[in-house]
Amino acid sequence: MGLLRALPLLLIAQHALAITNMVMHESVAKVPSGFKASGSPSPSQELKLLVALVQSNITGLAKVVDAVSIPSGPSYGKYLTAAEIAEYVKPPADSLSSVMDWVTPNVASVKPFTPAGDVLQLSLSVEQAESLFNAKFNTYTNPNGQQIFRALNYSLPSSLLQHILHVHPIVAFTPPPQATGKNTMYKRSPMSLKKRQLAPCEDIAEPACLLATDFYGLPNRTISGSTTNKIGVQGFNTIGGDGASEPFGEYANSADLQTFLKMFRPDLAGTTFSLETLNGAVNLQDNSGGLEGAIDIQYTVGVAGDVPVTYLLDNGDDAATEYMDTINFLLAQDEPPTVFSTSYANEEVQLTQAVSTTVCNGYMQLAALGISMLFASGDGGAADNVVGCTTLIPMFPSTCPYVTSVGGTFFQPPTAFISSAGGFSNYFPVPSYQAADTAAYLKSIGTTNQGFYNPSGRVSPMSRRSGRCSSLLVTSAGGTSCATPIFASFIALVNDRLIAAGKPVLGFLNPLLYSTGRGGLDDVTVGESSGCASHSGGGWNATTGWDPISGLGTPDFPAMLRALGI
Ligand SMILES: *[C@@H]1O[C@H](CO)[C@@H](O)[C@H](O)[C@H]1NC(C)=O
Ligand SMILES: *[C@@H]1O[C@H](CO)[C@@H](O)[C@H](O)[C@H]1NC(C)=O
Ligand SMILES: *[C@@H]1O[C@H](CO)[C@@H](O)[C@H](O)[C@H]1NC(C)=O
Ligand SMILES: *[C@@H]1O[C@H](CO)[C@@H](O)[C@H](O)[C@H]1NC(C)=O
Repeated sequence: MGLLRALPLLLIAQHALAITNMVMHESVAKVPSGFKASGSPSPSQELKLLVALVQSNITGLAKVVDAVSIPSGPSYGKYLTAAEIAEYVKPPADSLSSVMDWVTPNVASVKPFTPAGDVLQLSLSVEQAESLFNAKFNTYTNPNGQQIFRALNYSLPSSLLQHILHVHPIVAFTPPPQATGKNTMYKRSPMSLKKRQLAPCEDIAEPACLLATDFYGLPNRTISGSTTNKIGVQGFNTIGGDGASEPFGEYANSADLQTFLKMFRPDLAGTTFSLETLNGAVNLQDNSGGLEGAIDIQYTVGVAGDVPVTYLLDNGDDAATEYMDTINFLLAQDEPPTVFSTSYANEEVQLTQAVSTTVCNGYMQLAALGISMLFASGDGGAADNVVGCTTLIPMFPSTCPYVTSVGGTFFQPPTAFISSAGGFSNYFPVPSYQAADTAAYLKSIGTTNQGFYNPSGRVSPMSRRSGRCSSLLVTSAGGTSCATPIFASFIALVNDRLIAAGKPVLGFLNPLLYSTGRGGLDDVTVGESSGCASHSGGGWNATTGWDPISGLGTPDFPAMLRALGI
């Protein structure tokens, strides 16, 4: 009798124990430099946190991406729809219900953040978050002057560890994405247009040079008549930062674009771009914009013939969330662009490994959808301009195996750009399409740089394209921020020829570029990048064949068409 009465109580106690048995899930030892603490936030301060749930079949999706993007694969070019992709990444039903049962009574609201619902967005107060995650939040000012709320660690109920991958951003001290263009804070000033001293087609990659047959041989027009072959261009701005006296960031200026076209592509004069904004971003048309937005829009609209271009401008205070915003946006489009160009990056270490895996799995989904995602490799050399570092510094998203990393070369003669980033990931292992090339390169350098990098990491860049573009606004702008929109234009024009030939667009490029597409690239064998030792060397050297600074080489349009059999 006593035993029977006791049993239900025991079961209840076990259930309660399971929920209250909190296990620390992620922690950081210290706050990175650039973030300043300023005390405890108000308990009623609202937070938005993302809960990443386990995905139904992410390894299955990886196999599907191989099948659709390896040229010899069984279903090459047969991309999935967003609805088909969602089946692979949606959380298992029991994971979703277990997590919903736990959070719903304890937050102001919960809603899906991704189309498949594998990431949930919680709105809750600091007080609720501290109790739910057994965490102590502090107020910090990030390097852009924005106020953010973070904790040094958080815990999850042990019974939910099988359902939750991580919660973001509690312990992630990540600044917004950084423009790779050197003059991030350059103030637009149309009156100060200087006479160029550099020679066109020697050190300035004006559009006419990119079209010249002895350089990249790009065509001046599309031929397919396709309305779905489009280029997306990423922009980020930062508004509402408490420490910032005015909005600042990157904008695509329409009047500047027209001036650029009249000067360099009179045949395209009047061509414009469409604009999409997220999270209250604004595309200011005053003089406050930076160089990056100017380059990115001018070197897509002004290079890719008449391929339609969309500028996607986002605003936020954390790079990982902003990268996810773009992934969600693209997955939700009826007709997403076929190529997407991003000239922004973060040091890989600035993102937690957990959230960079979530973001990278998002790029895997875009690979399944057939979008070529291109990212600037970075303009800080092999060590992000940190002299005296003890390890080289790889850049994200370039280290994700599902994106193509684009580096820069001096235009003529083709020479790897000393400030071009590229190197070995500390988070992602080397993917199979790249294994033979990285092994050969590492064998060739022997023990050089040993201890400064992870030899089994995935290597960016995958391929690399021109650098040093001229811009309307300054005498010249160098680097991977120029190279990325130029390479995006190249891929969009190749897609146009494929569509005209009745073939699918290229989608995720790397398996192609590392195999049959290699013939469409010209190897760059000269040049080196800076590393930890100094700004003048110590990074990676360009060599015959693939290397981590000049990748596979520079684009050659006629040769790429031949390699593709069109
Ligand atoms: C996962 O996806 C792969 C590839 O489509 C498929 O072969 C496999 O059956 C799937 N597994 C599950 C458990 O659904
Ligand atoms: C977790 O955070 C609390 C509050 O900031 C701190 O006192 C504690 O030392 C941290 N523990 C670990 C293991 O990081
Ligand atoms: C485009 O290029 C073709 C051949 O390369 C040339 O004949 C034509 O005039 C060019 N069109 C324009 C508008 O520049
Ligand atoms: C690059 O070349 C320089 C000069 O030949 C050499 O000293 C250095 O070790 C090389 N570095 C690598 C990573 O191969």
